Amino acid sequence: MPKVTFKNSGEQIETAQGSFLKDAVREKGWPIAFGCEDGVCGTCIIQVHEGKENLNPMSQNEEQTLEMMCMKDAEHRLCCQCKVNGDISFEGM
Ligand code: FES
Repeated sequence: MPKVTFKNSGEQIETAQGSFLKDAVREKGWPIAFGCEDGVCGTCIIQVHEGKENLNPMSQNEEQTLEMMCMKDAEHRLCCQCKVNGDISFEGM
């Protein structure tokens, strides 16, 4: 099972392959705020430190939102849009 590490606290959780990152965040009570949960509002932006390749490709909504926020780069993702396919570590912003 993929390991998800929350850099802010160093805590870790194992999660099912292909599960939504937001479900792991909620289960652990990590302080990431969510709004639309549709990749549109940008509230849930995170910085992925390791394992970017282990997340699903960006949705069109996510790409457009990150572009509007000038945060479309190799590290930032919207937590509500991420599915976990392997180990990752990330930071809330
Ligand atoms: S909650 Fe709105 S973009 Fe993630």
